[in-house]
Amino acid sequence: MMRITSPVEPAAPGGDANCLAEISARVRAIEMLNRTAINLVPSEIRMSPTAHAMLATDYSNRYHFNDTRTPGQWEFRGGELVAELEYEGRQAFSRLAHAEYVNLRPISGLSAMMIALAGLGGAPGSMVVSISPACGGHYATGALIARFGYQWTPIDCVEGRMDLAQLEHALDTGVSLVYGDLQNSRHVLDVGAVAELMGRYPRTRLHVDCSHTLGLVLGGVHRNPLDCGAGSVSSSLHKTFPGPHHGLLVTRDAETDALLKQAQFTLVSSHHFGAALAASVAALEFESYGPHYAAAVIDNARALSAALADHGFDVAGAQDGYTDTHQVWVRLEDPDGVSDRLARLGIRVNVQSDLPGCPGRMWRLGVAEPTVLGATITDMRDLAAVIALARDGQTSHGTACASELRRRIGQRPWWSRTHELERTRL
Ligand SMILES: Cc1ncc(COP(=O)(O)O)c(C=O)c1O
Repeated sequence: MMRITSPVEPAAPGGDANCLAEISARVRAIEMLNRTAINLVPSEIRMSPTAHAMLATDYSNRYHFNDTRTPGQWEFRGGELVAELEYEGRQAFSRLAHAEYVNLRPISGLSAMMIALAGLGGAPGSMVVSISPACGGHYATGALIARFGYQWTPIDCVEGRMDLAQLEHALDTGVSLVYGDLQNSRHVLDVGAVAELMGRYPRTRLHVDCSHTLGLVLGGVHRNPLDCGAGSVSSSLHKTFPGPHHGLLVTRDAETDALLKQAQFTLVSSHHFGAALAASVAALEFESYGPHYAAAVIDNARALSAALADHGFDVAGAQDGYTDTHQVWVRLEDPDGVSDRLARLGIRVNVQSDLPGCPGRMWRLGVAEPTVLGATITDMRDLAAVIALARDGQTSHGTACASELRRRIGQRPWWSRTHELERTRL
């Protein structure tokens, strides 16, 4: 029989007959820790209990193809009775993104990326441009471009500004698609500068993948790429946007929407209907609190940066306000060892190698999850103090402070403040 360990230190899985029972027992036991952990992984976030509940419904195992809810087209009937709820969710995304066309069928950011590349990349052999991974572009984009039979030109990008001379050179040789895929960045991608240059190349499409920053875009603290000249946008729904593991494509152009739909038809069949319903709930909720939350993300990211610097950490960007996104990059002597110690306190940090301009292993923190759970600037300062205690090996004091902080964060999640926000609007 497998030993059930404390939630903080799960046992290695065994292969005995009780494994099924063990899966349920251990997941249940660890769930309590997960719910109170302070998660600083910038690619992750929690969603509201109302949205989360959708994942455990029957709809997670149903197909739903009849997006237009056309009578006589219910070959798969499982989703029929709630199809209009997903429609309402798509309408909410449409209002949030100020985009008429919303495709909620991608099952993740990478799935949306594949659809965008396949739909907008042009004829096989065409040249597609994206941001060099060494400069913060997504690791998979170049390889996917090649798999789809295109040629790839990576372009450098520094502090959110793509190298326009490199881009112009590529555009002069003929490019079908510019795919802006900034992943690791403390700066916002300057889409306007790219679009202005591309004005001279009307046959080239501009697509922006804002998987990391969608919540900041839809919350209005980052400019909407569609307002800056991008023809389409794709994203994950689970990094700064507090939704499920799912994806999204939006555009204001009917022809672009049709191309995306055509590609999506063969790339996604099951769109994980339970997750699409969770995304719909998340979008409808976000309409009431999104701008407040998004502003708090930026405030908290800067507050955590400054507080960590006060405790002697080497935080990237001290000279320019640290960050314009949810990401906070921290260099320290033993990033993995301190990460282990913090994990035992229920605080989870993300270790990355070779972030742009920062060789070696360091922390790439994100404040979206604690922020959506209600963390304040004071909480960020207290969090920095706990992180410093863990670095300095002061475990018993750190444990007490961490559990007090874990209890405090999560008391007033943004999605529970609807009435309060409505009152402030009166
Ligand atoms: C720009 C970009 N595109 C795509 C992805 C992949 O998203 P997902 O993990 O949801 O598939 C990421 C993930 O970080 C990303 O930053």
